[in-house]
Amino acid sequence: MNREVDLRYLFRPRATAVIGASAHPDKIGYKLLHNIRASGYAGRIYPINPKVKEIDGLPCHASLAEVDDHEIDLVSIVIPAKGVYDAVRECAEKKTPFASIITSGFSEVGNLAEEQRIVALAREHGVRILGPNIFGIYSAAAPINATFGPPDVKAGNVAIITQSGALGIAMIGKTKIENIGLSAIVSVGNKSDLDEADLLQYLVADDATKVILMYIEGVKDGDRLVEILHRATRVKPVVVIKSGRSKRGAMAAASHTGSLAGADEIFSDVMRQCGVNRAETIQEALDWCKFLSCSPAPHGENAVIVTNGGGIGVLAADACEKFQVNLYDDTETLKEIFRPVTPEFGSTKNPVDITGQAQAKEYEAALEASFATEAIDAVICLGCETATIDVDLLEQSLLRVHARHGDKKPIVLSFFGGEKTEAGIGRLRTAGLPIYADVYQAVSCLGAAYVHYRNLKNAMATPAPVDPPVIDLPAINAVVERVRNDGRTFLLAHEAQEVARAAGLLMPKSGVARNLDEAVRLAESIGYPVVMKVVSKDIIHKSDAGGVALDLEDRAEVLDAYEAIMHNCRIHAPRARIEGVEVGEMVKKGTETIIGARRDASFGPVIMFGLGGIYVEVMKDISFRAWPIDRGEAMAMIKEIRSYPLLLGVRGEERKDIDGVIDTILRVGALLAGCPAVSDIEVNPLVVYDQGHGVKAVDMRILLYPPKGASHA
Ligand code: COA
Repeated sequence: MNREVDLRYLFRPRATAVIGASAHPDKIGYKLLHNIRASGYAGRIYPINPKVKEIDGLPCHASLAEVDDHEIDLVSIVIPAKGVYDAVRECAEKKTPFASIITSGFSEVGNLAEEQRIVALAREHGVRILGPNIFGIYSAAAPINATFGPPDVKAGNVAIITQSGALGIAMIGKTKIENIGLSAIVSVGNKSDLDEADLLQYLVADDATKVILMYIEGVKDGDRLVEILHRATRVKPVVVIKSGRSKRGAMAAASHTGSLAGADEIFSDVMRQCGVNRAETIQEALDWCKFLSCSPAPHGENAVIVTNGGGIGVLAADACEKFQVNLYDDTETLKEIFRPVTPEFGSTKNPVDITGQAQAKEYEAALEASFATEAIDAVICLGCETATIDVDLLEQSLLRVHARHGDKKPIVLSFFGGEKTEAGIGRLRTAGLPIYADVYQAVSCLGAAYVHYRNLKNAMATPAPVDPPVIDLPAINAVVERVRNDGRTFLLAHEAQEVARAAGLLMPKSGVARNLDEAVRLAESIGYPVVMKVVSKDIIHKSDAGGVALDLEDRAEVLDAYEAIMHNCRIHAPRARIEGVEVGEMVKKGTETIIGARRDASFGPVIMFGLGGIYVEVMKDISFRAWPIDRGEAMAMIKEIRSYPLLLGVRGEERKDIDGVIDTILRVGALLAGCPAVSDIEVNPLVVYDQGHGVKAVDMRILLYPPKGASHA
């Protein structure tokens, strides 16, 4: 669904008003008005306050209705909560397109009803609401600073969308110190109407914005955000910081899948799926934004490390692995390029070690060579302060190289040392060089640039044909309907099998026998060995009831097992209604995996993959994706788990049937997405055989949403 809103006049209002503008300098209504005036805003400004005639020489109106201007595009509301509804009514009557409600005291303190009443009124009259509970909006395009934050925002090309007000205000100050210019900063607060996805859509198309930073606490309309983020990251880099890591308990604990991971793991994986750079700290996010806003993009994957110390070079190589920066490894070419500037006891392999005796001129020569070599796409320049190096000369060399080449290829720098080095870093940063005291900090910036580089590359690649699996939804829904009519929210094994078959999953052969003869006939048609399990909705834990028999080799064993199962279950649960005994193929050993799917509170249908047993339960080695995905994305989620090499085959084992896993992932996803009554699905285990020998969904659990007002049965 494309719900694009025209936000042009929010970012470039022709005229603006402040309801609750005050002459008292300590009030928010004063500060906000002052900021608008101080920002160089060229449009008309109307303070609204019935008790005051003028504020700092600007005439005041008693109400919006009194203002004779039909181009008031943005009204900031800074009056106590109880008056906000009427203020929005004034906006509606004036046909104002945007109201920025600074006021707190709505859904964030439990007053949801009043917030909804205001939004309903606004919607009815075409007024779009920013907030409530926000610090406002700054837009360099107008320019307008309709916030009560610092008056002096540095204009530039980074846009910030923030859910936290206080942090947002602090970011205005911090970005200035970090020399990061802003094209906009918008506070979304309670997101009663406009949310981050709406703003993102505008900012992606805004030529003045090169990088977008989002601070998110909670996601409301996740599937829409995913769709917009997907498109946004293919145009410009998006950096996200997310706090408020949800409690694990918030997840539907109903199924095993639900208990595996909290919402935060899902958030991280979904952000990666969207091509977003998720930062762990605010500092990291600001470092990335600054670098992405100033640096040229890489044109290829090959980075080179130039260092005067082996240790720091190794640290950088580690960081490259963590942030997925690829080190150029054509040793012959590296030798050719760097031999002339590297002493015999140095190394021309990457990291290129020009050794501790390197002076400024060796650094300059090595960097010049890196920039001149077409095969090198990015440069990581490192150094440890030595007793012999002339820091001042080095500083001048680095400045010269950056001035000559800094706009051609990305370069990050990290130097480590005492006072002189630290002071040098400070000066070079002020001069605009991406230089950091910590190697990881430097490499992480390059990693962020590579995420964007790969997003652009993917966007240009011809999309693989989308070939959604065909599943028999009417047959599946018929089973679901039967279960519902039976008053249950879980499917019995044979019902889940029926669903699995209709979804095209590869299952072990099986059937339900109602008597001894049928059991033998079934076993013979399936082929020995077989397994047998009691079928009864009154017996959930079948093994405990003695209702399971494995590895039955022949007719006689089937007959004995049938009698034994019936006998055990009657003793264990005398009142249980027993429908029969399921006879199934004894599944051969293979690699056990798990596929789960459920509706996430934030992102809608989400699919999970992991290797079975300890990999999932102890190591939490799983990956998530928001639905829908294609085969390529299913492959990416399989590759993402740490135990992926086990599927490739280790210690002489064959590669496993990964295509079969992909197929199952897509079918399980289509099943969940196609059946709104289903809340959770878990295929556990999906046994994967060697390539070409397929997979088998041995067990499948399906849960339904309880009828309204009830909990899971
Ligand atoms: N139309 C025009 N002016 C009005 C009005 C109306 N309907 N109702 C009140 N006013 C005037 C008041 O008379 C007052 O003017 P004055 O200073 O000349 O007396 C001014 O508007 C402000 O009202 P006041 O009652 O003094 O409120 P306040 O300034 O103490 O607080 C808020 C108002 C919005 C700041 C406060 O309610 C609030 O929500 N604070 C939290 C804001 C916040 O933190 N937001 C999130 C940030 S991230």
